[in-house]
Amino acid sequence: MLAVIKPDTQHKEEILEEIRGRGFTISRLKDTVLSREMAEEFYREHRDKPFFSQLINHGLFLRSGPCTMMVLTKDNMLEEWRASMGPTDPSEARQAAPGSLRACFAKEILETAVHGSSNTQHTHQKIQFLFRDISTERILHPKMKISY
Ligand code: TYD
Repeated sequence: MLAVIKPDTQHKEEILEEIRGRGFTISRLKDTVLSREMAEEFYREHRDKPFFSQLINHGLFLRSGPCTMMVLTKDNMLEEWRASMGPTDPSEARQAAPGSLRACFAKEILETAVHGSSNTQHTHQKIQFLFRDISTERILHPKMKISY
């Protein structure tokens, strides 16, 4: 699956450690500064939502530095990653999931520190968009380990 450490966080190394500690394999990792067009494409599924413009423009935070794009593998990885991140709104995360990445590292709803593709279709799209050279079929197979 596709996961992202956003540039708003000052805690990239701690988050990477947490990811490994929670049993995910980081199959690929790439730091990328998103252009406005890439940010819009990245969040295309939200383009009709009222917060879309804020999401793309907010303090330019999504484009303020490199995003760490990762392909993660683990059994049941979509659910496991969502549980690791905690709820989208960090204040809710601090209440409902105190040990989650967002409870520990996110600041507010537009600065959520981490992101993850929410279903198989988004995983395919994002991996093809960001890692054009790898086959999503291989990445989606949780037993397959790929070095980077
Ligand atoms: P979403 O993909 O729903 O969250 P998640 O990363 O937990 O899957 O939302 C993407 C981004 O949109 C999220 O990082 C913050 C922003 N957002 C808002 O600003 N307001 C909202 O009401 C929601 C749902 C999201």
